[in-house]
Amino acid sequence: MTGRPAIETSGLGKDYGRRRAVSVVDLRVAAGEVFGLLGPNGAGKTTILRVLMDLIRPTAGRARLLGLDARRDSVAVRSKVGYLPADFAVYPELTGHEVLRLCAGLRGHPDLATAHDLAHRLELELDRPWGELSRGNRQKLGLVQAFLHDPELVLLDEPSSGFDPLAQRVLHDWLRAYADRGGAVLLSSHALSEVERTADRIGVLLDGRLELVGRVDELTGAALREVEFSFATPVPAAVFEDLPGVREVTATGATVRCRFTGPVAELLRVAADHDPRSVTGHEPDLEDAFVDYVERHRTHAH
Ligand SMILES: Nc1ncnc2c1ncn2[C@@H]1O[C@H](COP(=O)(O)OP(=O)(O)OP(=O)(O)O)[C@@H](O)[C@H]1O
Ligand SMILES: [Mg+2]
Repeated sequence: MTGRPAIETSGLGKDYGRRRAVSVVDLRVAAGEVFGLLGPNGAGKTTILRVLMDLIRPTAGRARLLGLDARRDSVAVRSKVGYLPADFAVYPELTGHEVLRLCAGLRGHPDLATAHDLAHRLELELDRPWGELSRGNRQKLGLVQAFLHDPELVLLDEPSSGFDPLAQRVLHDWLRAYADRGGAVLLSSHALSEVERTADRIGVLLDGRLELVGRVDELTGAALREVEFSFATPVPAAVFEDLPGVREVTATGATVRCRFTGPVAELLRVAADHDPRSVTGHEPDLEDAFVDYVERHRTHAH
């Protein structure tokens, strides 16, 4: 991480009345980095993005974006930061062109080259009224306006929601190229295979707390892996249950399935003594790792 962080929050919290939505979030996102904010529905992702954009006020802590104070310097923040809200909507009679010209005027950035470039890549028709666009195409317009003023940082709330696989690829390539030029991205997403491909680091929010921050491979590396053996004759689960790292063993006839963390070596050695006929393995992807993490965390919490 070099130079000033693009986003820096300390002790950020937000209560809605008596309901705590976000508590003590310390988040740093560097220039040139794509950071994925993950978490179950209601975890607080949208709330954090809205606090950063000064659309709602935090009840605790503070946030800086590009060295500017999120609250005091919110006007300057808006001229340098792009934002795609979760519920992007405009007047239905406005065409894409009109929306972009309006945004360009409001942000004092008349050059529409970036917006046209992205709209073209997404095959978005800009001469149709918003009200006539399909859901995915409305979302594309939302994405295009977020990048319109060549921001140094973008906050994207579920940017690919409604996107077809082609648009998802365009978004992925666009974000990578943007970050490679030094732009910073904070995105919230439930599309975990996409986050896995796009994000440099991820943070997992649970009940308003940032419980884990790391590289994608750190989360997948800690997740449960799975291996299934078929033996010549039935083998009891107990043979594998006490091996290091083994969490769960299911024995059905001559088939034994183990879920485990860490190296597979000991499992293979023990299996080899029981006349194995076949072995298949499954490496966790980010989605497996995320579900696994949330489930384990909830088990501990209750
Ligand atoms: N205006 C509001 N008034 C009261 N509670 C709210 C309000 N907005 C959000 N909340 C609550 O704050 C918590 C966090 O909501 P938030 O929308 O930030 O979650 P999220 O992580 O974006 O979820 P999702 O994945 O569904 O988009 C939830 O418990 C939600 O019910
Ligand atoms: Mg949300």
